[in-house]
Amino acid sequence: MRSSGISVIVVVRHLAWLVLILCSWPRVAAAQAQQAPKTDPVEAAALNTILGRWGKKASWEWNISGELCSGFASTEIDWDYYPTINPFIKCDCSFSNNTLCHITKLGINLNNFTGVLPEELGNMTKLQQLYVASSGFSGRFPSTFSKLRNLKRASDNGFIGKIPHYFGSMTNLEDIGFEGNSFEGPIPENLSNLTRLENLRIGDIVSGASSLAFISNLTSLYQLILRNCKISGDLRALDFCKFRTLISLDLSFNNITAQLP
Ligand SMILES: *[C@@H]1O[C@H](CO)[C@@H](O)[C@H](O)[C@H]1NC(C)=O
Ligand SMILES: *[C@@H]1O[C@H](CO)[C@@H](O)[C@H](O)[C@H]1NC(C)=O
Ligand SMILES: *[C@@H]1O[C@H](CO)[C@@H](O)[C@H](O)[C@H]1NC(C)=O
Ligand SMILES: *[C@@H]1O[C@H](CO)[C@@H](O)[C@H](O)[C@H]1NC(C)=O
Ligand SMILES: *[C@@H]1O[C@H](CO)[C@@H](O)[C@H](O)[C@H]1NC(C)=O
Ligand SMILES: *[C@@H]1O[C@H](CO)[C@@H](O)[C@H](O)[C@H]1NC(C)=O
Ligand SMILES: *[C@@H]1O[C@H](CO)[C@@H](O)[C@H](O)[C@H]1NC(C)=O
Ligand SMILES: *[C@@H]1O[C@H](CO)[C@@H](O)[C@H](O)[C@H]1NC(C)=O
Repeated sequence: MRSSGISVIVVVRHLAWLVLILCSWPRVAAAQAQQAPKTDPVEAAALNTILGRWGKKASWEWNISGELCSGFASTEIDWDYYPTINPFIKCDCSFSNNTLCHITKLGINLNNFTGVLPEELGNMTKLQQLYVASSGFSGRFPSTFSKLRNLKRASDNGFIGKIPHYFGSMTNLEDIGFEGNSFEGPIPENLSNLTRLENLRIGDIVSGASSLAFISNLTSLYQLILRNCKISGDLRALDFCKFRTLISLDLSFNNITAQLP
């Protein structure tokens, strides 16, 4: 079973759709159907609610009518290979001895959504990546978003209001990219706890001054871009020797004193 799974991946990667449709390996599929893992029912209900409200249907490749975490959603192929499957989810089906799937990625690109992020997103507690770039969402982050403790990446949109301080408790975050929003300051000091953060990009905070001190322990950063964020601070107060991985720094249009060492 393991080896047939690997061969499926190899073939799909090289020959894409047609091969998958024509050779859907009826025998393998039948054998696996018996013990196919199931999507977490709370997550499935939440996703169906969200898609229904948007008037979106999942594309056939990942199966909204049946088991959500089947088809391409459950293979190990990276979704970057399939930019046209949109919206798209990816699942991790290794839970409970390979019987339970959790939704780990949700991508919605270049759609013309409006309004706030749906609060049901908070039910997908195993979500690691949420790509909503250029999707048209706006407004404030829903408070239920604070339940996404596994989130590793959070990205742009037309969000407003304060950057919620609950981001400070999402300690798995590696990548925050909030450059195209109209956030109010200050930047929450709680972000100082995100010691796994590698990439922090915030742009154009419209009000409310922040202190630079919150970055002093973010020593995993390789990119720090805080442009026009109403930040005051003195670089000499930071121990830049701790920032061994930092390769890109942009603090322009702030109130920063001192030259870099
Ligand atoms: C999901 O979240 C919403 C709002 O946070 C809640 O009302 C709902 O009961 C939750 N459960 C499911 C299965 O959607
Ligand atoms: C969709 O789910 C149904 C059952 O839930 C399954 O029979 C079918 O093979 C799935 N389709 C894909 C493309 O995985
Ligand atoms: C896990 O699944 C395998 C194969 O389905 C089975 O042999 C094994 O006993 C299961 N382990 C547990 C702890 O349930
Ligand atoms: C979004 O709207 C623009 C213009 O209104 C249209 O050209 C584009 O196809 C739409 N995109 C989607 C994904 O619906
Ligand atoms: C973040 O800090 C605020 C006060 O600045 C506090 O009320 C809140 O509980 C903190 N949240 C987390 C998740 O640390
Ligand atoms: C950082 O996290 C610790 C516990 O993990 C908490 O006690 C502390 O208040 C947090 N700091 C901030 C600034 O949120
Ligand atoms: C940085 O970490 C040290 C040691 O854990 C702690 O005392 C200090 O308060 C932290 N600074 C910030 C700005 O969170
Ligand atoms: C700029 O920073 C200095 C001290 O670092 C402070 O006195 C001053 O008020 C700040 N100016 C603004 C506009 O925030």
